[in-house]
Amino acid sequence: MSVLRTKSIEQSIKETEDPDYALKKSLSWLDLTVFGIGVIIGAGIFTFTGKAAKNYAGPSIAISFVVAAIVCGLAALCYAEFASTVPVSGSAYTFSYASLGEIIAWIIGWDLLLELALGAGVVSQGWSQYANLLLGDMGLHLPDALAPRTDDNPAGQFNLLAFLLIAVLTALVAWGIKESMRVNLVLVAIKLFIVLFVIVAGIAYIKSANYSPFIPPAKAGADTEGIKQPLIQAIFGFTPTTYGLGGIFAGASIVFFAYIGFDVVATTAEEAKRPQRDLPIGIIASLVICTVLYVAVALVITGMVKYDQIDPDAALATAFKDVGKAGYSTIISCGAVAGLTTVVMTLIIGATRVLFAMCRDWLLPPSFGRTNPRTGTPVRITIVVGLVVAFIGSYLGNHIDLEEMVNIGTLAAFTLVSIAVPILRRKRPDLKRSFTVPLSPVLPIFAAVASVYLMLNLSIETWIRFLAWMALGFVIYFAYSMHNSRLTGKPKEGELPSLTST
Ligand code: ALA
Repeated sequence: MSVLRTKSIEQSIKETEDPDYALKKSLSWLDLTVFGIGVIIGAGIFTFTGKAAKNYAGPSIAISFVVAAIVCGLAALCYAEFASTVPVSGSAYTFSYASLGEIIAWIIGWDLLLELALGAGVVSQGWSQYANLLLGDMGLHLPDALAPRTDDNPAGQFNLLAFLLIAVLTALVAWGIKESMRVNLVLVAIKLFIVLFVIVAGIAYIKSANYSPFIPPAKAGADTEGIKQPLIQAIFGFTPTTYGLGGIFAGASIVFFAYIGFDVVATTAEEAKRPQRDLPIGIIASLVICTVLYVAVALVITGMVKYDQIDPDAALATAFKDVGKAGYSTIISCGAVAGLTTVVMTLIIGATRVLFAMCRDWLLPPSFGRTNPRTGTPVRITIVVGLVVAFIGSYLGNHIDLEEMVNIGTLAAFTLVSIAVPILRRKRPDLKRSFTVPLSPVLPIFAAVASVYLMLNLSIETWIRFLAWMALGFVIYFAYSMHNSRLTGKPKEGELPSLTST
């Protein structure tokens, strides 16, 4: 029984036509681009930009955004090639099942669940903070125990707002993908408007003196010790520096979070009308648009406020308050509430689609993955994902810092996807690829190395948690999935026929 057995691509594509597991094919390239922007722009730009500028890079945080965009762009090219070759739900999980073998596919699927479910929970908490701010403006105050837990409210126990948000979004996702996309479109429009508003309204307040020095000189950074230090520092004994060239890269590994999500576009491959053409467009267009906006926002904020004076928690809103435009900051909070809603929803959709693909391959119980004939969505899975995300957003995230876990899960998936591109080309040169990564294998290898480099910049604590999550994944794989996989060739009553590996 080989854990490296692969599933043929033709088989993967064929079973998307099975009525029991068929998703509706309704999305155009524009839907996919909007979907991409909807999930990319979120907590990253609304919160982390200020923090990273102040603590690591100063005005050169704009360069950090470019660096992070390059790493993501390289991975995006790899995702685009895969999505154009294997247009099947499940994103990187499905791609690797066809190229690297079952156990690697399982690992990637497990990573993606970490990225998507945890990401949804983390962003729902950011959402609840802005929503709570707006409720406060309207004179409504939640009891401390039910309000978001922050430095100002350490008594927060159960995050009621995050819970309600996730409950509503889960219902919406279960109801139907096209309907979810419509809601998404409206919210993305509001979010784009707010980001453009920040840029246009802020330009007038830029003082060129704030850009000097653009790259602040390097100085010894805040010492982080023990399991809080980045793994790379422990391995090589680097002294952490703030600002300077090192600061640009440190900033990049933080603002990386702001780009997470373009890969989620690939999870909807089966629901695209013309996936081979539309997926690469959707992935690359949403990434390019967000990069331009992020760099512009970063330049505006660091131009409005001297980098060492930036408010690390609410940089955008506070920058306008400081120049006497308090009304603008309320508008920005409204935009953040709308904007973060779409991020949470899209991440929930992504998590359900990855689980769906795993159930269809019997790596998880297949009955669990059936689509509901009326809604055309996997309702049972959606409810389970909703419950898990609600637990993370309303409770677990109050007690553990989870952002870095999202980054490490994503980067691990990027690494494996990048490596898989040249492997699949060698194994299956015959497949039609309507999009190909230029300069393969150099570019995919570079993408993998860049992703690993960013992973090494994450803390030892994050690595320990990540390895624990992986260990749990291996236990499930060896105890259940390996013996129940469709590729074992053993039939299951009432299910799709079993398969033999290729
Ligand atoms: N990129 C998403 C955000 O910034 C996850 O919230």
